[in-house]
Order: sequence, then structure tokens, then C-alpha cells
Amino acid sequence: MQIISVDEERCALCGACIAVCPSRLLKEADGSIKIIDPAQCILCGHCKAVCPEDAFQFPGLEDAEFAPVPKKATLPSPEGLMALFRSRRSTRIFQKQPVEREKIERIMEAGRFAPTGGNRQPLRYTVITTPSAIEIVRGMTVDTLVGQADRIKKAVEKKRESGEALTVGYKLQEIYAGIWREMAKLNSKGVDVLFFHAPALIVCHGNPARTGPLDVDSGLSGMQMALMAEVLGLGTCFCGFLVMAAEANPELKKTMQIPKDHKVILSFMLGYPDVTYLRLVSRKPARVQWL
Ligand SMILES: Cc1cc2nc3c(=O)[nH]c(=O)nc-3n(C[C@H](O)[C@H](O)[C@H](O)COP(=O)(O)O)c2cc1C
Repeated sequence: MQIISVDEERCALCGACIAVCPSRLLKEADGSIKIIDPAQCILCGHCKAVCPEDAFQFPGLEDAEFAPVPKKATLPSPEGLMALFRSRRSTRIFQKQPVEREKIERIMEAGRFAPTGGNRQPLRYTVITTPSAIEIVRGMTVDTLVGQADRIKKAVEKKRESGEALTVGYKLQEIYAGIWREMAKLNSKGVDVLFFHAPALIVCHGNPARTGPLDVDSGLSGMQMALMAEVLGLGTCFCGFLVMAAEANPELKKTMQIPKDHKVILSFMLGYPDVTYLRLVSRKPARVQWL
């Protein structure tokens, strides 16, 4: 177990660490900072991040990562950040050009620094860039989805025969079933409307039985990765269909070398866009209840 420690020589007993510890594990006693229950520490780093004397040690963590916080001037402006949020589009037309590994690594770094519940950092990532591997995953995904479409058709027919109203879930599945059948037809002609011929796939997964729920963590990480991709000149498109297929077909997970007890939560295509958007798009106004 990693245990943080306080260098008493350095510590000036300012108490800043006590105030920021989310687990309330620090207290001042007998002229030093004591860690009440080290086993409860989530290694979030707040104590070290706030300490003017840099008195905290985190064994096993890279010192280089505890660099000084960047000056405000180097951070994006609210306008710059909003422009990034609004100009990101799902890319569905990609250039053939592969994505440099160095850029993918920067994208993974962006995901790594997203917040996670309890600082558990439960996510694992699979990066697929080998064209033949993408093709195999695409074929298996399409086949799985078509299998799902057949099951959906039967379930919907049964519901209709019984005179029961179709729930939103069923209606949505019926729409998907149609999309998947068309996708399979196009796929057999070499037209990829699943991954849109993207040269890279990122799949995010984890073991909820071991770490607790992962869905929100994945979403946050995914969005940070997508925004990093955008500023690197790359395009992304989240792919819920791959997630659905991976959850329905253990063989697909195996092919992606994802452990069978892992849940696939998020995936996206990545590549250089072969499309230029000239306008921002509109969204529904935020529905907000102010209290
Ligand atoms: C969870 C999630 C799953 C998605 N799955 C797919 C998908 O399987 N295929 C696809 O073409 N787009 C997929 N998308 C992209 C959405 O269609 C897209 O984000 C939405 O239409 C808004 O467009 P924008 O991303 O360009 O703003 C997905 C998006 C999200 C957030």
C-alpha cells in the first residue's frame, strides 16, 4: 500500500493540508502533521498540491508530475474554451493517414488526468491502430449488431401482437435494428458506416466489480480525450455501437484483448478529419431550474 508521509523538517505547520484533505485524514498534534488513518488516503495529492514547503512525499508517484501549477496566462480564456467546446464536431469522414503514436499518447494523458470517483482511477484503455485489427473488430461488431437486430425484431413483434404499447426503449432499439441492417449491407460492399474508415479506435473499459461504477469516470475521461484530439488537429466520434456489441459478444472483447470481467463503457474513432465545418451548430437552450 502506498502511504504518504510528511517531512517534519520542511513542514511549517500552516495547516493548509488539513483544510483541503477530502478524507479529513490530517491533523496537527504535538507540533507536527499526523495522518490519522493512512489506509483511508485516496492519494488525490491535494495536501502536496497546496503545501508551500512541499513537505509531502508520495512514494511510487513521479516527482515530475508534481510540477508548479501553470500561470493563469497560459490557461485558455473562457471564450477560447467555449470556442473549443462549440467547434468540436463528431467526425465521420476521415483521411487515410494514420495518427502518430505521440499524438495518441498525448490524448491518453488527457484522459488520465480526468477526475474519477474517490480518485480510484479505475479505467483501462485499448488503442487499436493496426488496420487488419480494426477490420476484424468492425466485422465482429457489425455481425453482433445484426444478431441483436434479429432479436429486437422478434421482441418488438411479440410486444405488438400482445397489443402492448412500445416503450421508448423498444422504439429506439427498433430504429437501431434498421441502422444495423443497413450498416451490414454497406459493410459487405466495403463501406464502413460503423467506424467510418477511421485509422484508430480507443476503447475505455474497467472492472466495476473491483472498482465500483465507471460510467461517469469514463465519460469525463472520454471528453477530455476528445478535446485534446481536437486541439491536436484530429477528429473523434464516440461509438456507442461498439460498446453495445462488446457487451453482447464476449468474443469481441477477447479479440480486443479486454478481460472478460471488464465492462466496455466508451469508445471512439480517431483520425484526421477529411471534412471542414464552417459554422457552429445550435443546441436546445439549457433547461435549468434555479433554486
Ligand atoms: C454516448 C455516445 C454514443 C455515440 N455513439 C455514436 C455511434 O455509435 N455512431 C455515431 O456515428 N455517432 C455516435 N455518437 C455521436 C453523436 O451522434 C453526436 O455526438 C451527436 O449527434 C452530436 O453531434 P456532435 O458530436 O457533432 O456535436 C455518440 C455520441 C455519444 C455521446
